[in-house]
Amino acid sequence: MTVLEKPPMTLLDQIGGQDSVDAAVDAFYVRVLADDRINGFFKINMDVQAAKQKRFLGKVLAGTAKDPDGYMRAAHKKLVEEDGLNDGHFDAVAEHLQAALESLGVEGDVLNQIMTAIGGLRKPMLNQ
Ligand code: HEM
Repeated sequence: MTVLEKPPMTLLDQIGGQDSVDAAVDAFYVRVLADDRINGFFKINMDVQAAKQKRFLGKVLAGTAKDPDGYMRAAHKKLVEEDGLNDGHFDAVAEHLQAALESLGVEGDVLNQIMTAIGGLRKPMLNQ
């Protein structure tokens, strides 16, 4: 890269930065908690959960998350082993994340790239 070239825009830049992630995560959890397929998993402090999710997704989209697979595996291992967390639950969560992003105007190639990155977390999240 010469001095005249700009560094590449990350996905985080392309959706408008951390403020957009924060708004998307808030919209996402409204949807998740309204969905009887999955809301039974979230008998936890949702302010804390949303803060963790904002931090994590921000790093994933910036490309700075350290060992995201290992983190996802550890965070959901007990849910898989004891509470039956499965592909159907993952699909529902991914659906709500996509809808939340779309509600903020994220679309096209950027949306596809984000959902591909999230899809890459499926196997570790399911401890596979
Ligand atoms: C790619 C999809 C997902 C991402 C990016 C994600 C992200 C996260 C993050 C960042 C945490 C916090 C871990 C920590 O404590 O530091 C977490 C915990 C949690 N996730 Fe997920 N998650 C995903 C899918 C799911 C699904 C499908 C469910 C259930 C339907 C779920 C339920 C939970 C629950 C209940 C916790 C709290 C666990 C605890 O506090 O013991 N997650 N997730």
